Amino acid sequence: MAPRRDRRSRQTASPRALPPARDGGATANTNKKKNKRRRRSKKNPPQHETPIENTEPSPPPPPQQVSKRRKKDAAAAAASNPSASLFEKMRSRLSGGHFRMLNEKLYTCSGNDAFNLFKEDPELFNVYHAGYQEQMSHWPQKPVNSIIKWLKDHNPSLIVADFGCGDASLAKNVKNKVFSIDLVSNDPSVIACDMSHTPLETSSIDVAVFCLSLMGTNFSHYLEEANRVLRPRGWLLIAEVKSRFDPQNGGADPDRFIKAMQELGLTLISKDLTNKMFVLFFFKKEEKCNYVRKEIKWPSLKPCLYKRR
Ligand SMILES: C[S@@+](CC[C@H](N)C(=O)[O-])C[C@H]1O[C@@H](n2cnc3c(N)ncnc32)[C@H](O)[C@@H]1O
Repeated sequence: MAPRRDRRSRQTASPRALPPARDGGATANTNKKKNKRRRRSKKNPPQHETPIENTEPSPPPPPQQVSKRRKKDAAAAAASNPSASLFEKMRSRLSGGHFRMLNEKLYTCSGNDAFNLFKEDPELFNVYHAGYQEQMSHWPQKPVNSIIKWLKDHNPSLIVADFGCGDASLAKNVKNKVFSIDLVSNDPSVIACDMSHTPLETSSIDVAVFCLSLMGTNFSHYLEEANRVLRPRGWLLIAEVKSRFDPQNGGADPDRFIKAMQELGLTLISKDLTNKMFVLFFFKKEEKCNYVRKEIKWPSLKPCLYKRR
């Protein structure tokens, strides 16, 4: 009798690593099972993640032509190597689950805990960002592109700090001097730190950017830090997932958030609610800001979790 292989190791091992079968009867049985599994997996294609909030409209599918081409490529790949395609599907499910877990962690822990988590295992940062990029590929418009456009419409001499820069695409797409800040630095230009304590000098920045990065439970400390490094009359730009500021869906009341920012010494100049997926706030630091640390009543910002579609 052929030795029973552990089920989990069979799922994750490369098909090429499996030894060739020698016993005809057992192999035929195994092949039948494999074919059954393949047919089943065709019926249930791999699942992607989507924001859990039900009021968020599902992102539209990519243009038809692109989707047709993708399907054709995938079908060709599956036909040439069916086991490899099954393996890819399983791998993508595992990494999707890992991404969702890390995403939830970032929204439910402090910035300091997140910094320590990634410091212990910087590879987690890559897992998170692979999942995040996958999510972004379904959004009709990336919020970072709105920020890039805003910067391009303003003076390129403005000095920018990108709080929670991710892959630093902001710095790569504008002429401005940009200080890119994140928990992990995969690029020498990125400063690795918890953004509630940056090495930036006080009153040295013209524009502070938070693009989907108000993630930690102590997000108000990030805003206080941005306020510290901003020059008087400097800009503070926030792009956030729309449902986080939708009180009818458990999100924060935007007016309460704006009031708390005002107490910090940042006045709302404009907001843009036109996008289906994210909101944009444009604040300006007061000319004479005599901010002394005080108790501000911040509304809580609910986590943006993702579920399988
Ligand atoms: C959703 S991603 C957005 C990345 C980028 N701003 C964009 O728009 O593509 C949020 C980023 O904020 C970073 N982040 C979260 N908390 C942080 C903290 N306390 N200090 C520094 N970076 C943080 C995460 O590591 C992640 O790269």
